[in-house]
Parts: sequence; C-alpha cells; structure tokens
Amino acid sequence: MRSQSLLVQAMLWLAPILVDAGVTMQHRRADLRAVLTDPYLNLDPGTIISFPDSNPDEYFKATERWSIYQAPTYTAAVTPATEEDVATIIRLSRQHGFDFLATGGRHGYNKHLDDLNEGVALDLSALNTIIVDREARQLTAGAGVVLRDLFGPLSDAGLQIQTGVCGCPGLIGVTVGSGVGRLQGIYGLVADALLSVRMITAEGEMVEASHEVNSELFWGIRGAGANLGVVVSATYEVHPMYRGGQFTVLDFVFEGEHNKTYFDLLASYMGPGQDLPAEISASTVLFWNVTHQTAQFMANWVYAGPEEEAREVLAKLLEIPAVTTRIVQVPWRDLTATAVFGLDPLICTPLRPITIMGINLRNVYSDVLQELMDRMVVYWKMFPDAVLTTVSIESFPNQATMAYPDDHSAYPWRDAKTYIMLQPTFGGPSAPVAMAYLRGVRSQLAVASDYEEYGGLSVYVNYSQGDEKLEQIYGARNLPRLAALKAKYDPDNVFRFNNPIPTSYP
Ligand SMILES: Cc1cc2nc3c(=O)[nH]c(=O)nc-3n(C[C@H](O)[C@H](O)[C@H](O)COP(=O)(O)OP(=O)(O)OC[C@H]3O[C@@H](n4cnc5c(N)ncnc54)[C@H](O)[C@@H]3O)c2cc1C
Ligand SMILES: *[C@@H]1O[C@H](CO)[C@@H](O)[C@H](O)[C@H]1NC(C)=O
Ligand SMILES: *[C@@H]1O[C@H](CO)[C@@H](O)[C@H](O)[C@H]1NC(C)=O
Ligand SMILES: *[C@@H]1O[C@H](CO)[C@@H](O)[C@H](O)[C@H]1NC(C)=O
Repeated sequence: MRSQSLLVQAMLWLAPILVDAGVTMQHRRADLRAVLTDPYLNLDPGTIISFPDSNPDEYFKATERWSIYQAPTYTAAVTPATEEDVATIIRLSRQHGFDFLATGGRHGYNKHLDDLNEGVALDLSALNTIIVDREARQLTAGAGVVLRDLFGPLSDAGLQIQTGVCGCPGLIGVTVGSGVGRLQGIYGLVADALLSVRMITAEGEMVEASHEVNSELFWGIRGAGANLGVVVSATYEVHPMYRGGQFTVLDFVFEGEHNKTYFDLLASYMGPGQDLPAEISASTVLFWNVTHQTAQFMANWVYAGPEEEAREVLAKLLEIPAVTTRIVQVPWRDLTATAVFGLDPLICTPLRPITIMGINLRNVYSDVLQELMDRMVVYWKMFPDAVLTTVSIESFPNQATMAYPDDHSAYPWRDAKTYIMLQPTFGGPSAPVAMAYLRGVRSQLAVASDYEEYGGLSVYVNYSQGDEKLEQIYGARNLPRLAALKAKYDPDNVFRFNNPIPTSYP
C-alpha cells in the first residue's frame, strides 16, 4: 500500500512536468512554423517550405530517404531555391535554436542521424545545376546533383569523372566523405577530382575553399566535410574518356559452394604486395537465395576496355561455373545503369529498413572471406526476418589513389584494397540481436584486416555505422587537424549528425 501511494505521489509530482514538456514541444513546433513562414525573411519565391500536416506531398519529396532505420525526424522541411536561402536558414537556426540537417541525395545512414529530433530538413535538391566547361575540362555541380545526373552531360562533351558505383547518392554527399569507386585505380577518389567548393559556414557565411584559398579547410572537406559546413557548389577536374570510354561489364550469380574457388581468385589479386590492375574492379555480394533456400553470391566485375580483352584478362573468372552469366560492353554513360544485372534502381530503392556496417581490408585473404560466408549462412538461418541482409565486398584498384601523398586530403585509408559492407535489412523484431551478431562478424574480419594499428577495425567514413572509435573513422593522425578545423568553423557543433568531430583532440 505504502509503495503504491508513493508511486501515486510520484506520478502527481511528475505530471505537470510531463504536460509541460508536451506543451513546450507544441510551442516549439508552432514557433518554428512562425519563424519559417515569416514574410520578412524575404526568401526566394521558388523556395519551398513544407510541413508534414499542411503540405505533405512536398514534405515527403523533401525528406524521403534511402534508409528509414535510425533516421532523423523533422518538424519542417525547407527546399531552398538559392544559395542565399541556404545561408538564411542556417542563420535562423542559430538565432532560434533549432537543429537542421543538410541533405543532397539522402543516402546517409549513420546511427548519429537519429540524434536529430524534430529539426528542419534542409533539402538541397533544388540546387541541381550542372555546368560542363569542355575547354577547361571542368564540371561545376550544385548540392542537389546526384551521381547519375552526370553521365549524360559529361558524355556529350566527351568527358568522364570517377564516381561511386550506384547512381543515386548525392555527388557532393559522396565527395565530402571521399568517394570510392570503380575508377579509383585510374583517377583516384571522387574527392581527388575536386578543385574548389563554395561552402556556407555555421555562421551562415559563404566561404570558398581550394588548394590555394582556405587550403586547410579544403583538406578537411575532403573526408570530413559534413562536419564543417554546407557545400552548396563544387567544381571538379574531369577527364577525357579513358580508352575511348568503353567498359566491359561481367555479371555472375554463383552457387555458394564455389566460394573458395572464387575467393582464391579474388585474393590472388589483392594479397600483401599485390594490386588489382587499374582497369579492373570487382564487387561481390553474398546473399541468401530465398526461393532456393541457399547461400549464393553475385559478382560484378568491370573492365575498363573492350570485351575481347576483358575475356582474355579475366579468363580464370570465366572458368568458374556460374548459375547466370552476362557480359556486355557499354560506353561509360551506361556503365552504372548496366552493371550488376541492371539492378541499380533496385539497390537505390528508398524507404528501406536497412543500414550499413563497414570495414576496410588492407589485404585480402581467401580463408577470411570463406569464414565470412560461413558466418553469414548461420546468420541467415538464425534470423529469418533479416534474411534480405547482404554483404558487399567491394574491391577497387588504388594505383591513382595511392599516387597522391597520404596527407593530400583528410581521407586516411588510401591503401585499402577492399571495403566490406554488412548491409542488415530488417523485417521484424530481431534487429538488435542481428546487429549484435553482425558486430561479431565485423570483429572477426578485423582480426585479419591488416590494420593492426587500429585494433584491426578501420572504416571509410561513408561506410561507417557510427559505433566505431573516431580514430577508426578519421585516422589518428588526422584528428588534431580536423579538431582544429572544427573549432574554427563549427565551434558550437551545429553539424554534429555524422560521426561528429570534437573541437579539441586529443
Ligand atoms: C546505395 C548506396 C550506394 C553507395 N555507393 C557508394 C560508392 O560507391 N562510393 C562511395 O564512396 N559511397 C557510396 N555510398 C555512400 C555515400 O557516400 C554516402 O551515403 C553519402 O553520404 C551519400 O550522400 P547523399 O548526399 O546521398 O546523402 P545525404 O543523406 O543527403 O547526406 C549525407 C550527409 O552528408 C552531409 N551532406 C550532404 N550534402 C552535403 C553538402 N552539400 N555539404 C555538406 N554536407 C553535406 C549531410 O550532413 C548528410 O547528413 C553509397 C550509399 C548508398 C546508400
Ligand atoms: C559520408 O561522409 C560525409 C563526410 O563526413 C558525411 O557527411 C556523410 O554523412 C557520410 N555518409 C555516411 C553514410 O556516413
Ligand atoms: C564455401 O567454401 C567452403 C570450402 O570449399 C565450403 O566448405 C563451404 O561449404 C562453402 N560455403 C557455402 C555456403 O557453400
Ligand atoms: C536463386 O537460385 C536459382 C537456382 O540457382 C536461380 O535460378 C535464381 O536466379 C536465383 N535467384 C537470384 C535472385 O539470384
């Protein structure tokens, strides 16, 4: 009895506070609405302000994202039509104390994103201009441009650029992480093509950065950009078509039983002291074939050159018996849409209960990948509601990437040969346990990643889950420089929803 009355007392005491919190939240929402719709803001007439209740279609268009797992939540969305309006919204957020998240292609997925509650979505998708300067071999793109937007305009000018493997992520979103992809052996990281940016700071001021102007900021943007400001436009060096711009796509589905033969071949290119030739990239996806209830893997190899040559160079790959084989030669323009059996639109499908947990491999060993396959078979059987989970093993050549000095940009993993991404997809309640299992899988991979100095675990910032140590994401050597940049450009930690960097380190 006595404890019950204590409970009742406690509830009576708490009630006004809880009600208060609710009222405060409602007030804040009403305030935010008033702040954003104030006519004195003088926003561009093309700038769209949307709320989930009053203009849900526009709000949905401005906030729809690839992953809905650990996603941020918003009270309102703003889709600025001009760079000035981006600055205005950032200044307003400072003045009125609301949080915001700038987004380009909305393919971010990191556990820190759900620290953003009832904030403002700063949707940059309307800043989508693309200017190609053929003479100067330069491309200038706005923050709303996604990778697949580039293929047509650049091809028409006889030019190309290194990109990620899918068509849907934002160009600048990928660049500020660094951008790994198939042409890394020939041209380097996407960020290596960057010549200059226009960025809006936490104070709402426009700054430029390049190798000549604000060069330290420019260094940090290429690897940790999301922490430092909002890049509204970026200029890149682009290249004449490599070998006439012809690529050979080789796609396969293999039965799980051939994994040893396949991984032996993959590892023969990427053991210690070995390198995948600059013209070859190899993406492998382990998956559970739901109809046949068996483990299989898909392989997409791309060869920068004509089919005849590709068949010769990759003869050993072609000897492995496959369930399905598809080999086509395509111009660069069609590479992304064609590769992986043309599944790009499927991979890019939004609103998925999915996330990514990654790890870099400095060297690749066949037995490590075979064990990975074994552990996944156990996982698929153990978690039927997460059976759509896949594992991506992305192997990219890195000759051009390594040709830059290590401190060329804030990307610390130039020597990584393979990026593994565990991609949990959840359909039911096992998510937390399945995640724990996959953390175990990642730890096992760490044992043989050859990044001993990081306890085996290092991860490309854009494949990070957010539960890694800062050193494992940004590299121990880079952190003092990054912290100094953070202290200078974002001392109040406005940009804190992507693996936040502290303002002092150590
Ligand atoms: C299907 C898929 C395929 C991928 N393939 C590759 C690949 O091949 N290579 C590769 O390197 N990466 C790849 N990624 C990872 C990709 O680099 C990141 O997801 C990246 O963050 C996507 O950028 P976005 O603009 O689409 O995402 P968003 O969610 O819009 O942005 C991610 C974060 O970056 C910040 N940001 C976005 N725009 C800006 C800006 N203009 N200025 C400053 N900060 C900004 C924001 O803080 C935001 O939270 C892939 C991701 C997915 C989902
Ligand atoms: C990619 O890296 C950039 C730069 O730090 C960051 O904005 C973005 O959130 C990262 N993406 C993911 C998926 O972690
Ligand atoms: C992977 O290859 C190994 C070695 O041949 C084999 O023992 C294992 O069963 C294979 N895995 C699958 C899922 O078939
Ligand atoms: C599943 O396996 C069967 C038999 O090997 C194959 O025909 C089918 O294409 C596979 N499914 C996928 C999605 O690869």
